[in-house]
Amino acid sequence: MTTSNPLACVVLISGRGSNLAALIKARDSGVIPLEIALVISNKPQAKGLNIARSAGIPVACIEAQDFADRDQFDLKLRQLIEACSADLVILAGFMRILGAPLVNNFSNRIINLHPSLLPKYPGLDTYNRVLEAADPEFGASIHFVTSKLDAGTVISQIRLPVHSTDTAATLASRLQPWEHKLLVATLGLFSKFTVSSNNDMLLIDDKTYEQPFILASDGSLHSACST
Ligand code: GRF
Repeated sequence: MTTSNPLACVVLISGRGSNLAALIKARDSGVIPLEIALVISNKPQAKGLNIARSAGIPVACIEAQDFADRDQFDLKLRQLIEACSADLVILAGFMRILGAPLVNNFSNRIINLHPSLLPKYPGLDTYNRVLEAADPEFGASIHFVTSKLDAGTVISQIRLPVHSTDTAATLASRLQPWEHKLLVATLGLFSKFTVSSNNDMLLIDDKTYEQPFILASDGSLHSACST
């Protein structure tokens, strides 16, 4: 979004909300011009709802069990998102697949944070899958959301080494602060440029990138190459 207005976001969560907390911190410190218009959870007990409430952010909770089917749930979600005129929808630990009608309605405007180096390990249990495959590195990806699980164009990644002593728990705790940095840096990209996907290629304004941006140790994003 090439605008001097803050990037208006809706954040979807299902649990802890540490990434939401990182976004609130970035907003409050002025690191990125961000407005968090609404936080939506599909779990009423999600701890992240309290983080949002404490920060004075409006919250909504919608549970799948209250809707006849996926389409009805997605329709409600769409109405909530449209009511706040959001530029971007951020899935930060939102544990539910969104249907094609909803995703297509917000084309290039829904992103997800996933704890693996996509396209490796979509879905659950990513850390154990890294260890079982004896991968030398692991990390997290931010990608555009499609109706296929963890499958849209990857925008950015953090890549970290796997140590011989690592367990799923140590991988998860080592990655967590980097996920926060990755999310904030990626939103910085959205606040400055028009970020989109075309034929599974990443576009920043009118430049095409064949590889995702990589987060450096100083928290900045770097591209491998562009065309
Ligand atoms: C993160 O690890 C993210 O990669 C995954 O869900 C987790 C969300 O954590 N999609 P939190 O709720 O933001 O603390």
